[in-house]
Amino acid sequence: MVKVAIIFHSASGTTKKLAEAVASGIRSVSEVDVVFAEIVGTDIVDGRFKNLALIEQLKNVDAMVFGSPTFMGCVSAQFKAFADATGDLWAEKAWSNKIASGFTIGSNLSGDQLNTIQYMQIFANQHGMLWASLDIPGNCDAEGRNRLGAQSGLIAHSTDGELNTTDLVTANYLGQRVAKVAKKFAA
Ligand SMILES: Cc1cc2nc3c(=O)[nH]c(=O)nc-3n(C[C@H](O)[C@H](O)[C@H](O)COP(=O)(O)O)c2cc1C
Repeated sequence: MVKVAIIFHSASGTTKKLAEAVASGIRSVSEVDVVFAEIVGTDIVDGRFKNLALIEQLKNVDAMVFGSPTFMGCVSAQFKAFADATGDLWAEKAWSNKIASGFTIGSNLSGDQLNTIQYMQIFANQHGMLWASLDIPGNCDAEGRNRLGAQSGLIAHSTDGELNTTDLVTANYLGQRVAKVAKKFAA
């Protein structure tokens, strides 16, 4: 069975709604399992991410989808604490050749969310992972998915805590895509 993990942080719940949509997209692909991992405040002690069981579990997945709100133009501090805690795996190349992708949300239409996705991509590349883009050309999709037009990963937008339906449909698609790519690569 191919395993795809979603590792995300969400302070007020919007990123979590996207994570749930990504998870349902992954589950729609046969013979693929989801590891749903929310980074929470109690995982961080004295500024360091201490949920080492999660990091251990991630050694056994085929793909990871990273999720974080955009805070001050980048990932949240909680997500960064998780990323920093994987430093010991870096020299071991423990995540080399795993598939990766990412999603974020911000309350501005152009609120520097791309920097969040690009940080996730650099993080994945530091581990030797293979980044899966969002292969939906913005403005050229019959369903209007990827309405904000980022193809490095999913960028969503909300001003009131409610998720745009098209963003959720796009998140579902991203989950399906990563699951299919991971399955193909595992084969
Ligand atoms: C401290 C802080 C910084 C933020 N910085 C940005 C930002 O740089 N760009 C942006 O578009 N939105 C920014 N926002 C808005 C959040 O990204 C937005 O509310 C998001 O939906 C929160 O995700 P969550 O519900 O998963 O916590 C910021 C919000 C907070 C609280």
